[in-house]
Amino acid sequence: MGENARKQAATEALNDMVKWFKGENGTVAIFDATNSTRSRREFILNYCRKEDILVMFIESVCQDENLILQNIVDVKLSSPDYKDMDPEKAAEDFRARISHYEQAYEPITESDLTYIKIINVGSQVHGESMYNLMGKIGGDSDLSPRGKKYALALPKLIKEKLGDQPLTVWTSMLKRTMQTGEHLPYPKLHWKALDELDAGCCDGMTYEEIEEKYPEDYANRDDDKFDYRYRGGESYRDVVLRLEPVIMELERQQNIMIIGHQAILRCIYAYFHNLPQEELPYIKIPLHTVIKLTPKAYGCEEERYKVEIDAVDTHRPKPPPKQKTLAAA
Ligand code: F6P
Repeated sequence: MGENARKQAATEALNDMVKWFKGENGTVAIFDATNSTRSRREFILNYCRKEDILVMFIESVCQDENLILQNIVDVKLSSPDYKDMDPEKAAEDFRARISHYEQAYEPITESDLTYIKIINVGSQVHGESMYNLMGKIGGDSDLSPRGKKYALALPKLIKEKLGDQPLTVWTSMLKRTMQTGEHLPYPKLHWKALDELDAGCCDGMTYEEIEEKYPEDYANRDDDKFDYRYRGGESYRDVVLRLEPVIMELERQQNIMIIGHQAILRCIYAYFHNLPQEELPYIKIPLHTVIKLTPKAYGCEEERYKVEIDAVDTHRPKPPPKQKTLAAA
């Protein structure tokens, strides 16, 4: 009987959705429900096909006990189902609901479905390079002595914080990221698409040198850092585009550790935190710090683990707008 009532409710919600598509010219609708059995997915697919609606399933998988508990506390207990209920009783009830669903749960494997899976964790790191020390941008320099110490300290830190989870490490094709990961005992993948933002003719220069040699470019970049494209190089917008396949793959994988560069990690971080493009080029991604991102029901949970090895600060804050001179009569 409960089963019938649930199916009835799902059908009514689908009817509402179709009404919105047809009557109000809707483009994308999210049908948020426990569509965790093959038969339920088949039902939705057939229903939508009849209405000419394309369907993509999103399966959110979570085996991390802490995350599940946190999710119950943060999201479920404030839902209308548990309004006015004692929080402990509500948490207990929700756990019982999970184990009930678990018995019927069939992960998506149907080859005729379009789907993505969102799975537990992702983390980001980068180590200090010789160019960082000299204040130069770009290049393909080695790690600094402190960067090498950080690389040596990483395996222990990761083990301490993430335990025995199997990780895969992704680096760019540049030496400094590969050296940062060299002591990590996990499989590694090197992506050209993870290389640092290409500074074109400014590659290898310090910000001061750029300001002196290309003052107009320098000012333009401060004006609109997201869209400014270095001569012969890239803008942040270009980088966001080139990272698309990396991010797609990231969404399909679990437990990925990315050893990246400042601009690259900003783009990935902004994607997971859904930050606006004006903020993106100024996000703080300090050296010698592991940032762990865990996708949750609404947004991403973040933890930062700082390793006590000094490093330079490569963050350049947005300068205040230039004062306009007022002419006094
Ligand atoms: O300074 C380190 C670095 O990774 C450079 O190689 C790169 O050009 C820069 O950071 C990107 O940061 P920003 O966009 O703030 O100049």
